[in-house]
Amino acid sequence: MNIQFDPTNLSAEMVGEHGLTRSEIKDHSSKAIEALKGFRKISDAGKQGFPRLPLESQTTKDILKFAGEVRGSYETVCVVGIGGSALGAWAIDNALRGPHPVQPAFSRKNPRLVILDNVDPSFIEGALESMDPKKTIALVIAKSGATAETVATFLMVRDWMGKKLGRKASQRIVAVTSAGRGDLATLAAREKYRTFEIPANVGGRFSVLTPVGMVPAALIGIDIRKILKGAARMTESCWTEDLGGNIALRAALYQWLIWNRKNKPIQVAFPYSSRLWGTAFWFRQLWAESLGKARLRKGEVLNVGQTPVAALGATDQHSQVQLYIEGPNDKTFTFWAVQTHRDAGRIPKTRLELEAFDYLAGQDLAKLIDVERRSTAAALTEAGRPNCTFTLERVDEEHLGAFFQLLEFQTAFTGELLGIDAFDQPGVEAGKKFTFGLMGRAGFETYRERFDSYEKRRASVG
Ligand code: PA5
Repeated sequence: MNIQFDPTNLSAEMVGEHGLTRSEIKDHSSKAIEALKGFRKISDAGKQGFPRLPLESQTTKDILKFAGEVRGSYETVCVVGIGGSALGAWAIDNALRGPHPVQPAFSRKNPRLVILDNVDPSFIEGALESMDPKKTIALVIAKSGATAETVATFLMVRDWMGKKLGRKASQRIVAVTSAGRGDLATLAAREKYRTFEIPANVGGRFSVLTPVGMVPAALIGIDIRKILKGAARMTESCWTEDLGGNIALRAALYQWLIWNRKNKPIQVAFPYSSRLWGTAFWFRQLWAESLGKARLRKGEVLNVGQTPVAALGATDQHSQVQLYIEGPNDKTFTFWAVQTHRDAGRIPKTRLELEAFDYLAGQDLAKLIDVERRSTAAALTEAGRPNCTFTLERVDEEHLGAFFQLLEFQTAFTGELLGIDAFDQPGVEAGKKFTFGLMGRAGFETYRERFDSYEKRRASVG
């Protein structure tokens, strides 16, 4: 397993005044070590559980046992969840079985994964029509057990299964939720769904290595032990109190400095791999929700945050890079490179006596995509735009598990550097409460009233 971090193009030597000087980095190295120690205390006190997840071997055994028992009895795994309860499953499927339109044919041996993570009515109705309830296993995932989108969609899925399977439907439904907390846990107990628990000390966006990501992964036939093995190896190096040997800490320090010292409020996560596109969306949530906060831990209101943007190489070179190179210099770029792709993508040697075609004959796409990334990095650097690169030796289970863990540690360390709580999400909760109020949930009437007064203010303006 090999993941590298290259910060060269974040340096002042490469990008001038927009880059970091050696003394800026040196002067803040001790702050990075303090950040690690601060997070270590939180982790050791059991307040945050994601670092220990790769070692939860009993949970892994339970998941594998269950997946073994049901294997072959379904063609589709239908996940109902949103945010941190959906993005990890998509990232895993996309990375390890390939981008959805080009996955191998689905069958009982290679089940289709359908993730219902939006309440767009035609999306949900269309998805239900496309699946056969008798050949589907439904997986409802919600840490709170109460998110309106998940509950509403699940009620439809439950009804859809019940109509075809009657009482047997509950044998085809799995719930992943907090133990003994929330109405989903109550319903699961009442209807006797197979249930897996989300540990209380792991928040939604940090939960990919809990049953939230591991149950769907195991059900579609991914070797979750290898994902966890990669994550465990990365965890060891993330606790190293030495910047040289700790990629997560080094990446946190450089990103925090470039964002705060060089005024780069936007970070573009730029994978040059369609297989890492889902992971970029997973990361977008992790970085945004963890680090976008009104208050510092000490109470001061500062409204911090760096907006994460996902761009896909090489595709978005023809969509976004004009802006990135010539627009405002307010971004930092993190390329995600893959050293060895699964396929070379050999370009036929056929020569057509056409100048724009013949130079490519006999080369391969793996070289082309790498050249495209290096060329974009060079162009950004020439334009004084700071950028850095994570390189994964390959996209397989171990590297993916390690990369998840690396990005989670980087996020946690950055939270410490900023002095914020990276693990709460009051903004998300506020939106959820307005929805409850407007949809008529008991106990949320004040949100309805607040919404009504907001509407009145709008009417008076308009
Ligand atoms: O990271 C978080 O906590 C959130 O984004 C949640 O994942 C998201 O709101 C879904 O919550 P739940 O799992 O309770 O349905």
